[in-house]
Amino acid sequence: MKSLTLYTQFYIMKFGIKRNKKVNKVEEKNISQAVIRRLPRYYRYLGTLLDEGVERISSGDLSKRMNVTASQIRQDLNNFGGFGQQGYGYNVKYLHAEIAKILGLDVTHNFVIIGAGKLGQALANSISFEKRGFILKGLFDINPSLEGFTVRGLPIRSMDSLSEFIEKNNIEIAVLTIPKSMAPEVAEMLVDTGIKGIWNFAHIDLKLPETVLVENVHLSDSLMSLSYRIGHSGEGVLDE
Ligand code: NAI
Repeated sequence: MKSLTLYTQFYIMKFGIKRNKKVNKVEEKNISQAVIRRLPRYYRYLGTLLDEGVERISSGDLSKRMNVTASQIRQDLNNFGGFGQQGYGYNVKYLHAEIAKILGLDVTHNFVIIGAGKLGQALANSISFEKRGFILKGLFDINPSLEGFTVRGLPIRSMDSLSEFIEKNNIEIAVLTIPKSMAPEVAEMLVDTGIKGIWNFAHIDLKLPETVLVENVHLSDSLMSLSYRIGHSGEGVLDE
């Protein structure tokens, strides 16, 4: 299976924000989830600009590229101290690096995939996570017939070894690609391992202590949004 291009934001990390001085500011200011959810998109666009060799960009030009208003961009970035300069715009490299810090992408995050079926393997085969510092350390599955198989060089392991593996390998994130009937039980077990975040693909809301952050991903939500837009094209749907 080849890599799956998932631009579902891998990890909108609140705790990543805690690392630099600006973050304390961020916490004090109580940044809205909507702003935080827009940051990966800025990061992506700035990455593309960097690849194109663009050194600086005005909020106006960035807004045209991203199809959001320039004032939205300024407002969003002002939450973190601005980064722009009147008459100069934004230094692309600097802003890209600062947003990376805010998102916690300036450090690596080890993760495991639980459920090495079709989706789990597709995710495991995606190298773009590693480019952003998310390092896949292991895959786990309850099905004994999968044990011993490897995905991108990593063996599929038995669930019995999960807790110890998480502890020994400094795993922060678990990706859940298991049936929804199994997800609550596995998630409870993960809480006891001290994991920090769960990227949950199972179609069920997990009720967990606040110590474990959960990011739900439902690809079909995006498809339904597309369906809505097709059905309402021409009615002027507002930008994100
Ligand atoms: P699959 O059947 O190919 O893989 C599921 C794997 O989970 C199997 O290998 C199975 O042995 C393993 N498993 C079951 N119970 C387990 C447990 N307690 N501990 C560890 N492993 C366990 O299914 P597929 O297509 O990979 O889908 C996986 C999950 O992802 C399903 O819940 C599906 O509904 C969901 N899904 C979600 C999407 C989304 O956008 N959120 C998109 C596609 C699938």
